[in-house]
Amino acid sequence: LKQKRLVLVSNGEPYKHVYQNQGIKQQKLAGGLTTGLDPMMQEDNGLWIAWGRGEADFEVVDQDNKVKVPDNDGYTLKRVKLSEEEKNGFYYGFSNEVMWPISHTFISKANYKEDYWLNYKQVNQKYAESVLDELQEDDLVWIHDYHLALVPGILKEEKPETKTSLFWHIPWPAWEAFRTIPWRKEIIEGMLAADFLAFHTDLFVYNFLSCAEKIGAEVNFSEKEVYYQGAKTRVESIPLGIDYQKFSNLAQDEDYLAKAKEIKSSYETEKLIFAVDRLDYTKGIEERLAGIDKFFEKYPEYQCELTFVQRVAPSRTGIEEYQQMKERIEKKVGEINGKYQKDKWQPVKYFYGSVPQEDLLPYYKAADLALITASIDGMNLVAKEYLAVQDSGVLLLSEFAGAAEYLDSAIQVNPYNTEELADGIYQGLEMPAAEKKERLEQAQADLKEYDINWWRDYFLENWIDCYE
Ligand code: UDP
Ligand code: G6P
Repeated sequence: LKQKRLVLVSNGEPYKHVYQNQGIKQQKLAGGLTTGLDPMMQEDNGLWIAWGRGEADFEVVDQDNKVKVPDNDGYTLKRVKLSEEEKNGFYYGFSNEVMWPISHTFISKANYKEDYWLNYKQVNQKYAESVLDELQEDDLVWIHDYHLALVPGILKEEKPETKTSLFWHIPWPAWEAFRTIPWRKEIIEGMLAADFLAFHTDLFVYNFLSCAEKIGAEVNFSEKEVYYQGAKTRVESIPLGIDYQKFSNLAQDEDYLAKAKEIKSSYETEKLIFAVDRLDYTKGIEERLAGIDKFFEKYPEYQCELTFVQRVAPSRTGIEEYQQMKERIEKKVGEINGKYQKDKWQPVKYFYGSVPQEDLLPYYKAADLALITASIDGMNLVAKEYLAVQDSGVLLLSEFAGAAEYLDSAIQVNPYNTEELADGIYQGLEMPAAEKKERLEQAQADLKEYDINWWRDYFLENWIDCYE
């Protein structure tokens, strides 16, 4: 396996380049796909093909649009250029106004414009051509996520012997939601051209198999195999892990611990609750704020004793839905602060802006409790990262995040149940130290065993098995 080159294809790029103080600076981007896969690529030294979205991205590439990341000893990132029209139709349009909301079962947020679909097809073709230009014998082409569902089909048509797989980083919905997409059959057909397909959880696999059956494929549910147009596709659930070693080493690092201490003391309250998300309607930020409001009302003894720090990273800012949500969140933060704050104490500290992961991590350590309240999520790496650096913290986790299928030791809640959310926070804060320790040890053992290396190896083994 190690001899084969990995050609990874995703829309999101792991690093972008921006202008700064007369120079050009490299920035790591937020989002589970890129933060999750970057350490793996740094080990494997393969080729990553993705959209060059940074303002200075094409200033630093060679004549083939390639650049080494994170430094000259790193792996090769090949950047694909998208026009303004492609950005609007493919990225904002079909990917994030059809595939994203439907995959997350937000049917009413979908915008099924024909133009979006045409652009999606066009850009998927562009990505496939970019792969074909690079392809060497024996390469493994590993496609990622909902932006590129048609790439396996195009590759199979142009070069049938190509070994392809697709990992889907977000949920796969029930047929009732998926069937609303006018081009549902073409999408599934494109995906089934991959030799191997994987999702984070068994539920998403089951949903996908059911959808494949509905479009006319023959499905063996117990073997998780799909037969369609003379080809077989194997489907598996393989939950994305984190680079556990990196996080647990960090938790021993003195500079890191000092930063965490500094953060904790800057808030001047006994307890700190932390949350960080891309600003997205799937993350349940509004439900979380309602829970915090309820918590301070129901447990007033915690007023002046606890600060809730909410960081949000801007995301997909060209979409109205995302802009409106930002306004609603900021209004609610203002309301809570207006309702409870006293003299020096402000209950909610809200930050809007993306920060490099290194700057985020001390907050994990400083927090007594992390709040993940996604209304639905493929996995949620923040949950895993928090647990990996903690030695006395509590994770309160939405039962609707993919991570909940694997993290029994977290306090799990239905984020739509505001009372339960408030009580869950209270339970977490009041939890005896021994219980916290026991829960953390259980979670950390799992995170260590099922880390990013396990994920990569298990994925590759299952994929290669398809050819035996
Ligand atoms: N993240 C970051 N900077 C930020 C916010 C988030 O680096 O300002 C990282 C975070 O550490 C995590 C990823 O972005 O690795 C978010 O992944 P997750 O699976 O939780 O959610 P997604 O954004 O993929 O939906
Ligand atoms: C999620 C998706 C990724 C995406 C990321 C950031 O993690 O699964 O494919 O890259 O969000 O979103 P963005 O729209 O900025 O690429």
